[in-house]
Amino acid sequence: MTDVINSDGVFDVDDVPVNTSGNPDLNQVGRSRRQVLKGGLGLLAGHLAAPSLLTACASEPAAPRVPFTNSPRPEIGFAPVPVALEPGYDRVDVPRGYRARAFFSWGDPVEAGAPEWHPGAENTWEEQALQAGQNHDGMHYFPFPEAPNDHGLLVINHEYINSTLHPNGPSVTQGVDGQKRRPLEEVRKEQAGHGLSIIEIRKDAQGEWQRVYPSNYNRRLTAYTPMAISGPCAGGEAMKTKDDPSGQEVLGTLNNCSMGVTPWGTYLIAEENWKNYFANRDPGDHGRRREHHRYGIASGANSHYNYWESADPRFDATLRADEPHGGYVNEPNRFGWVVEVDPFDPTSKPVKRTALGRLVREGCTCAQHADGSLAFYSGDDTRGEYVYKFVPEGRFNVDNPQANRQLLDKGTVYVAVYSEEGRGEWRPLIWGRPGLAETDGFQSQADVLINLRSAADAVGATPMDRPEWVAVNPHTGDGYVSLTNNVERAVDPEQPLNPANPRPVNVHGQILRWRERDGHPGATEFNWELFLLAGEQSPPGESWKTDHEYGTINGDIFSCPDGLWFDKDGRLWIETDFGDDEAPYDAMGTNQLLCADPVTREVKRFLTGPTGCEITGITAPPDGKSLWINVQHPGLSYPASDGKARPRSTTVLITKDDGGIIGS
Ligand code: FEO
Ligand code: CA
Ligand code: CA
Repeated sequence: MTDVINSDGVFDVDDVPVNTSGNPDLNQVGRSRRQVLKGGLGLLAGHLAAPSLLTACASEPAAPRVPFTNSPRPEIGFAPVPVALEPGYDRVDVPRGYRARAFFSWGDPVEAGAPEWHPGAENTWEEQALQAGQNHDGMHYFPFPEAPNDHGLLVINHEYINSTLHPNGPSVTQGVDGQKRRPLEEVRKEQAGHGLSIIEIRKDAQGEWQRVYPSNYNRRLTAYTPMAISGPCAGGEAMKTKDDPSGQEVLGTLNNCSMGVTPWGTYLIAEENWKNYFANRDPGDHGRRREHHRYGIASGANSHYNYWESADPRFDATLRADEPHGGYVNEPNRFGWVVEVDPFDPTSKPVKRTALGRLVREGCTCAQHADGSLAFYSGDDTRGEYVYKFVPEGRFNVDNPQANRQLLDKGTVYVAVYSEEGRGEWRPLIWGRPGLAETDGFQSQADVLINLRSAADAVGATPMDRPEWVAVNPHTGDGYVSLTNNVERAVDPEQPLNPANPRPVNVHGQILRWRERDGHPGATEFNWELFLLAGEQSPPGESWKTDHEYGTINGDIFSCPDGLWFDKDGRLWIETDFGDDEAPYDAMGTNQLLCADPVTREVKRFLTGPTGCEITGITAPPDGKSLWINVQHPGLSYPASDGKARPRSTTVLITKDDGGIIGS
């Protein structure tokens, strides 16, 4: 993520660690990464005076007890594209024999009556609420049963907003009280630029995908759309505010990053960096309130992003003891959830499912067993946070659609512990268990769920290198998680290396995979291994253990894996999110989409995106002959690519000239 509005201009606070549990993940900034890295491990150890690093680093990632190779080998037939190193690169390149075209961009009309996007960003907030939001992220194609490969709904998250939303960037003034202030009109437009788009799409007579507009299915959700709260936290005191004394209805969804899909055909929004939208201006109260400080909510004059609290009091989470339910002190408790949306019912009210717990949640990927058991996997994307799964109490029953609709309200949340030798354990986060009882400071299961990070601390979860997306191999049920980077790993000797996070100053990230015991999503034990360490190819005689810019990739290099997805044939697609203007990534060009074989681990680069963007979101129709991906926050002028237009986040459609399966 880049280019977030705040007083310092462009700045990224989405991964600042706040884990001060028994497994601290301490943050130090201001070091030149490349200098440290290129000095090799000897310099690193000397520089940081962390002798334990050498010992820890010398251990190989443990060998798995399962081979992970009983997956069918997918055909990966394309000729890879090179890294994009040319200055001012401002397009999308795909392999020979493929075509990529902009399909759905920020500002495109969604709901009926929406005006066209204004190239000077002069659309009003009311107009923005009818148009595509910014920063397209997680996405899914839902087919209509009668023509699944020709007609469907495309559902797209809009994670956050950029300064491009306003004609001349955001207006910020600072009062004598030190607080920064924003005009309400701009705040409303920013709120309207968040959320979700649902668009109907259909192939035309020439077999080309087109939007259906207008359509009764076309719908926008924003940061102020009414949503229901369900599950163990609904109606509790911690969910009540002066505007919602019921604790059962919240306005909007924020920072919708990755996503999930249920077997019953609904879409799951994952609310990621919502914590940056709130401020508790009372540092004493903030320090006592773990549901604020453990999530990194600001305790100063303003929120980390956008300063909405200056114009919309709902985002000022300072305790107001004289107001009902303390004013809006509980408003942040109403974000960080999974939000279930039924795309086929445009009148349905989205539901925040509190049984899954409150995180800085990256995604919510479902694994399904033949017996109907389910698991929903999520990363908590902050340095030193954890990997989780939710196992519903009930089972999916294809013959009882109504019962399935309640599956996300009851179940158990587990957090992952990665031990030596590729063994892992899912520890349940159940109120009353050791560490999670009243004497430990947890009042109820709702309290555990609202403070899920604290609960995970208490059971000894393994701090990870920023867990992002999870993908599940449809042929084996194996889970894959991208750990995008963690530049502070082992910089402080108190944050140890471990086999799952083996590189200090981890600028490039890794992908880890696991297999549940007996292949069952409800298992409490698993085996795991590192699938690859991202980074540059090491020359003969060197390795990632001597220079941490090197990885273990078999094939095309990349850095900072983020989006992960399996297609129907078992190709693993990898999307990247690194700072393409930062020194450690000099060799990587721009952000990318790659395709990996889960058996041989061979990686081929399929797509390069325009300068400044990240690549995220990925989905296909059942036949695999089209692919949509998102170019998020391009930095120059994409998709116009004329060197002067305002850049727009864009969903890109990829097809193969011979009509074949993408990647084959
Ligand atoms: Fe929105 Fe963790 O990426
Ligand atoms: Ca992401
Ligand atoms: Ca990311």
